[in-house]
Amino acid sequence: MMWSSERRRTFISRLAKLLFGAFFAMSIVSAFKLKQGAPERVVPLELRPVKVASLAEIKQRGYVALSVGGTPVLVFPVGEELRAYDATCPHMGCPVSGRRLLEEGVLECPCHASTFDPATGARLSGPAPRGLRQLPLEVRNGQVYVLPA
Ligand code: FES
Repeated sequence: MMWSSERRRTFISRLAKLLFGAFFAMSIVSAFKLKQGAPERVVPLELRPVKVASLAEIKQRGYVALSVGGTPVLVFPVGEELRAYDATCPHMGCPVSGRRLLEEGVLECPCHASTFDPATGARLSGPAPRGLRQLPLEVRNGQVYVLPA
């Protein structure tokens, strides 16, 4: 079947509009999902412990999300202990969110819904190939510090 040049131009024009619309819609969805995992505080990279918050504040809020030298970090209590993770999703690098931690007890990546065990950082579901990297913590005088590694 041969298409006239006008039909071909119309087809290409519609295809271009469709692709542009799909790209635009995906950009909006991606921007919204990335915002869900956005840190509350941004800290420049330091080679010494970075203060997160007081132990009481972390327990009261349930979790704290911050960025240390561009690395997303999540800090939260697990029972009587604390955990800190490099919250960079091992799938494609989106910041993992603590939003579902309080109600459902899981950490979730907002980009493609990988979930992680808050106690161990292990991958529970989704396309992430492995779990989250745990970071060392210190508690001094009621203040919690994370040691970026
Ligand atoms: S980037 Fe986290 S699941 Fe894809």
